[in-house]
Amino acid sequence: MSMFQPVRGMRDLLNQDADALSYVIGKARETSALYGFKEVVTPVVEPFELLSAKSGEEIRQRMFIFDDLGGRKVALRPEFTASIARLATTVLKNEPKPFRLFSVGSVYRYDEPQKGRYREFWQANFELMGSGKPEADAEIILLSNSLLQNVGLTGYTLKLGHVGVVRGLLNQEGVDDVTQNAILQKMDKKDYDAAFALLTSKKCQNTLRGLVGLKSETAVETIEKMREYTRGYDKASTAVENLAAILKLVTESGCEIQTVDPAFARGLEYYTGMIFELYVPQFDIALGGGGRYDRLIETFGGEETPAVGMAAGIDRIALATQVQKTVLKKTQQKRVIVIPIKEEQKMQALKIAQTLRDAGIPAEFEVMGRKMAKALEDADKRKVDYAIIVGERELKEGKVVVKDLANRTQEEIEIEALASKIRK
Ligand code: HAM
Repeated sequence: MSMFQPVRGMRDLLNQDADALSYVIGKARETSALYGFKEVVTPVVEPFELLSAKSGEEIRQRMFIFDDLGGRKVALRPEFTASIARLATTVLKNEPKPFRLFSVGSVYRYDEPQKGRYREFWQANFELMGSGKPEADAEIILLSNSLLQNVGLTGYTLKLGHVGVVRGLLNQEGVDDVTQNAILQKMDKKDYDAAFALLTSKKCQNTLRGLVGLKSETAVETIEKMREYTRGYDKASTAVENLAAILKLVTESGCEIQTVDPAFARGLEYYTGMIFELYVPQFDIALGGGGRYDRLIETFGGEETPAVGMAAGIDRIALATQVQKTVLKKTQQKRVIVIPIKEEQKMQALKIAQTLRDAGIPAEFEVMGRKMAKALEDADKRKVDYAIIVGERELKEGKVVVKDLANRTQEEIEIEALASKIRK
């Protein structure tokens, strides 16, 4: 037994788990390019103040925080949005708007570990900065839809909401921002009674309770009910119209996977507009989520810059591909091992391996100095396709023996023709 295990909530990924993760990352990167996003790389460790400024109570409580040796209070990033917003106030300050930025990497939250919930996990993150228009919201939603489609998932749905509706109602009822934040946190946890209890007036409680109960069969009907309900509440009405405009753009672009939930809230505090989450029927945890945040960049000392974005939970999408048995379309490259019969052929054999790699064929070299029978037995166990046996007699004729390990056949092949032969 080893003395060491990974830290709780953190995992080693091997074989199909590692393959699924990198498959989803590849698809996310492809999708980002299709929508004109540019990749950026930012640090895993950031100033605590940056990460905590507008993240919300829940994330603040779950960050991995420490003092570095210079006495700076730093934390492991729990998400990408704060780092990207920092870019918008520094190196990208004078960049023409809009800009679209993609990032992928590990993020850290002290969540309670369970299936699909880890303390180290991966996100693919997309931010569109500079536009306050519904077109930008629609673009992010359509991108999210394309991502899951490109990964090969089926039956997924998108839950849509708008924080401006709840905030608009509560603002007009005179509820302060701190209480509003606390209410939205409770609503995110679907703990509605606790949310109502934070309101001191009965009238306010009833206003919120009414909104939470509005859900209808279709997205359009729900919007209609929200429209009626918010009549007389200016800001909340504007928010409903904004949501309606976004929904129309998305639906008319052929993406009809959404439901609208008037009681929908998300844990992050920086949202100011549309919010959404992605689900598959097999799990009750979100595969991704995002929304509009028009004031974060300003909060960081930048110019007023409207922005919208989303993060896909790579680990959960990878799990969904495994549960839905999505075929990971990997290029089926043949695997080859090159084995010299004797010490004297080692140099030649190594050269042959190198020639194969130069031709783009994955080739391993027998590095254990094993006898031929042992080396072949091992290659067989590891499901290698071909063994290239390099012997003195064949070398003299410019040839090697190629053994097909699955079919148990072998033939002598000219070294020159080796790469093209294996490729076939
Ligand atoms: P978020 O909803 O906190 O949003 O996280 C996005 C996704 O990360 C979730 O939907 C989920 O798939 C995944 N995720 C979250 N926690 C865990 C965990 N403990 N284990 C595994 N996966 C997890 C954000 O992070 C925002 N920054 C999204 C955004 C970008 N909003 C605007 N721009």
